[in-house]
Order: sequence, then C-alpha cells, then structure tokens
Amino acid sequence: MPDVRDGSVRIHYRDTGGGGTPTVLIHGHPFNSSAWSPQEDALGKSLRLVLPDLMGFGESDVPERPGDYSVDAFAGNVLAVMDAAGIDRAIVGGLSLGGYVAFALWRRARARIAALVLADTKAEADNDDARATRTAQQQRIAQQGTASLADEMLAGPLLSDTTRADKPDVVARARRTMDNPGAGWVGALQAMKERPDSTPDLSSIDVPTLIVVGEHDSITPPALARRMHERIAGSRLAVIPAAGHLSNLESPSHFSGALAEFVSEAAAGI
Ligand code: MLT
Repeated sequence: MPDVRDGSVRIHYRDTGGGGTPTVLIHGHPFNSSAWSPQEDALGKSLRLVLPDLMGFGESDVPERPGDYSVDAFAGNVLAVMDAAGIDRAIVGGLSLGGYVAFALWRRARARIAALVLADTKAEADNDDARATRTAQQQRIAQQGTASLADEMLAGPLLSDTTRADKPDVVARARRTMDNPGAGWVGALQAMKERPDSTPDLSSIDVPTLIVVGEHDSITPPALARRMHERIAGSRLAVIPAAGHLSNLESPSHFSGALAEFVSEAAAGI
C-alpha cells in the first residue's frame, strides 16, 4: 500500500479502492489506521476508504521532536495523502484526535471537505488540568515507555464496561493498535495540548455532518456531542449503543451502518 511524502516525513496510507466519493478516516490517539479495520472489512469494497497513519503512528515516519507535531501538521499529512491519491474533495471523518485534525483541516482547506464525520471527539481545547495530565504522560513515556500506560488506558476510560467484560477480542484488537512508537505518543500529546478551541468554527460548518458518540464515552461524552450537534446546522447525531470512546471498534456494526447510511446520503447531495 502507498506511501507519500509530506515535506521530509513519509506518510503511509491504505486505499480500499471501493467506489463512490472517497471517505478519509483519521484515527485517534494513540492508535493507527488499523483501528479502522472493522470499517475496512465491512465497507471497504463498496466505499473508497482512505486510511492514513498520522505521522508518529503505524507505518508512517516518526519525527523525534514533540514540537514537530500539531493538529495542523497532522492535517498536512492528510492533505498530502489526498493529493497523492488524486482526491480533490472527500468525506472526512475523524475519531477523537482524528476529529481535532478534521477541525484543523476545515480551517485550512474546507473546499476539500464534502462532508464531515466527527466521532467521539469534541470542539473544546484542553483546560489546564488536561494539559497537566498530558505532560505527566509525556514524562512517564520518556521514563517507562508506553506499555503500562496503554494497559491503564484500556482498563480505564477508553472502553465501556460492556466491552471490557464481554468482548475480549475487541480489547485485544485495541491493545494491538496502541503499539506505536513512544515518540509518536509524545508528539500527539503535544499536538493535543496545544490544539486551539474549535468551538468558534462550528457555526461555519456548512457541509453535511454526522456526529457519532459511544453511549458510554467518558472521554468525549454524549453531552459534548450534543453540544456540537446543536451548533452545527443540519448535523445528524448517532449514539452508538454499548460503546465507550472507541465506538467504531466496540460496536462496529452500529458504527459502520451509521457511516454507510450517511456516506450514501451525503454523496447523493454532492
Ligand atoms: C483520542 O482517542 O484520540 C484521545 O483520547 C483524545 C484525547 O485524549 O483528547
């Protein structure tokens, strides 16, 4: 599968080659594009899904300096992939960090966005407590690596209780896709700490928008999703039953069904 250069950084992506309007799906932190494998399996033949590994993750290059990472730089990765794949306009979806990147892309190149999918994400910037937590995580990764933090995140806020209790295969899959370089984790934490507030952008979003949230998402809870829904005119909200923050992995058939329905309706209006 192809690689593309974004300046000096090599970005890897997968293109499922299905038909219709291309849909670019941007993964969350600290995952990589394999986190979309349930959607790739279910929809990749009927839809053209384009799945980048943001820099620092998956098979993409890993800049060492945290200062090289920002949501704008990640948006640049996505634009480089769209250029290389010959995609002028796409349906752009992002989960969590991927949503923060989608907002950056909206600010930078909204003409390239035909529709938006904002999954388990929020418009607000970090507050001081959240920044301090991320700084502590960066220090911990520098000292101990990522493994124990990954285990803790999975045991804590990432997944719903139902997923943890009844879906060991999903827990294992999520854990595998967290196996990314420490410098990528630290860089993404830096990008998230410094990301701007996207709330003022919500009223400017004038493309079809699907907001998705896991019923039990405790990182970007349904209340925040509803707030985005209220502020993005004409947006649609899908609450995914039994899922936590990783709604596309935890309840894949619900998520894929909502995505497929939205993409076919949005594409009809493009
Ligand atoms: C993510 O899933 O991308 C992160 O949990 C987002 C965040 O920590 O704000």
